[in-house]
Amino acid sequence: MLQMTGIHKAFGQNEVLKGVDFNLKEASVHALMGENGAGKSTLMKILVGIHKKDQGDIKYQNQNIDFKHTQMSEEAGLTFIHQELNIWPELTVLENLFIGKEIRNKFGILNEKQMKKEARSVLEKLNFNISLRKVAGHCSIGEQQMIEIAKALMTDAKVIIMDEPTAALTDKEIKQLFKLIKTLQNEGVSFVYISHRMAEIFEISDQITVMRDGKTVLYKDTHDTNYDEIVKSMVGRALTEQFPERTVTPGDVLMKVNALNNDNHQMSNISFELKKGEILGFSGLMGAGRTEIMRSLFGIDKGHKDIEINGKKVNIKTPEDAMKHSLGLITENRKDEGLILDFTIEDNMVLPSLASFTKNGFVNEKSTRLFTEQMSNRLNIKTKRKALVSSLSGGNQQKVVLAKWIGTGAQILILDEPTRGIDVGAKREIYQLMNELTERGVSIIMISSELPEVIGMSDRILVVHEGKITGQVEGSQISEENIMTLATGGKLHATNIN
Ligand SMILES: Nc1ncnc2c1ncn2[C@@H]1O[C@H](COP(=O)(O)OP(=O)(O)OP(=O)(O)O)[C@@H](O)[C@H]1O
Ligand SMILES: [Mg+2]
Repeated sequence: MLQMTGIHKAFGQNEVLKGVDFNLKEASVHALMGENGAGKSTLMKILVGIHKKDQGDIKYQNQNIDFKHTQMSEEAGLTFIHQELNIWPELTVLENLFIGKEIRNKFGILNEKQMKKEARSVLEKLNFNISLRKVAGHCSIGEQQMIEIAKALMTDAKVIIMDEPTAALTDKEIKQLFKLIKTLQNEGVSFVYISHRMAEIFEISDQITVMRDGKTVLYKDTHDTNYDEIVKSMVGRALTEQFPERTVTPGDVLMKVNALNNDNHQMSNISFELKKGEILGFSGLMGAGRTEIMRSLFGIDKGHKDIEINGKKVNIKTPEDAMKHSLGLITENRKDEGLILDFTIEDNMVLPSLASFTKNGFVNEKSTRLFTEQMSNRLNIKTKRKALVSSLSGGNQQKVVLAKWIGTGAQILILDEPTRGIDVGAKREIYQLMNELTERGVSIIMISSELPEVIGMSDRILVVHEGKITGQVEGSQISEENIMTLATGGKLHATNIN
């Protein structure tokens, strides 16, 4: 039903698409894959009229089309759920769902009753419980994502493009989303599904297209291909095991957290210890309170807590206090807290550690350049260091966030969803970096919703459920089953603990 042929696109000197082909069948789910920066989002933005293509043809339902803006493509039945969410933080959930599409009566007055009715019906389909009056800015990232999905489903779309839709969703929400995709597919809707989560691709997609170096390198029915072939066509080489082996044995206790609370009561009485060189995983369902724990620990949210680092009591009231005591926090929301979009890659990377690059009041340009180049190389960011972060692809922005904290020399690094939206090759590089940091004595707290990642990388895992730590697993106790049991409020049987 949709054919894109020989699509070319350059941003300035940067030739991103060099003749990409993409064919979408009716009532199918089509996975679009490729490394960070491969051009997936750009290709879809061209389709819906956000970017202008330089060359190429697009046929939709047997007609040549060239949408000039998204209003045109929406009218033609194409809806795009963006990787970077487009939520209006000051507006309510209801207002967000109907922005630009408000229902009015014949006198032009908003028909709130009708809007609420339609909104509830979509939210119900998604099995998503949220107050329509809640201010969107107070919603978690996962909730914001669900609002975006609901918004797309309220249109009569024939093609729905989802760019990394599940990065912030829980397993339960993902299941619900997939169920809904299947239902709509049976009704004739087609999906373009962009994701770096390989397991999802095999679960949900019918066809797969892989892009690399500006071209289409693989187009197959999903059941005719496999993990290795996809990874190989994405990164151009075979990848060995996904998680590098841990080489560090954690040392003595470095930080003790006692009776941590926050004033909003999203969690209570959090106590735990972190050892030197340890990777401590925090697992739990979305909304369990993991992010809130870290915000409070880091001094972003107010609340009571007793913290000891190296046997000494420390007082952390603000993020500046936290940094002074060698803590670093990589937040899950890079757009709000992690990056300054209209600064360059280099400025963003060196900003928090500027002091260490400064001598007699002058910034040492050579060392900032070296650091930036080294980080870019390792994390495979191909864009020049002087480019603005706003021009980077979603995944590459995330890499910049990571790089900037690695440079600070923080002794305790808190990573909240560090690999969200990052491609398989760079993910492994990040795991490798985590290992190297712990070899240098750095301790890491990792929050991740991807169970295989927490399991693959953590020395010990604490599980959070409804704002409390419900248990800890270590060594041979570490299993998906045990973690899920604790994450849903259950208890481990004696037989599961050995
Ligand atoms: N508005 C823009 N201005 C300049 N360059 C851009 C712009 N948008 C994207 N690019 C560049 O185009 C290339 C492709 O980016 P795109 O966002 O399409 O990648 P992607 O495949 O979606 O990656 P990811 O998996 O990280 O989301 C990147 O090199 C990026 O820096
Ligand atoms: Mg993208």
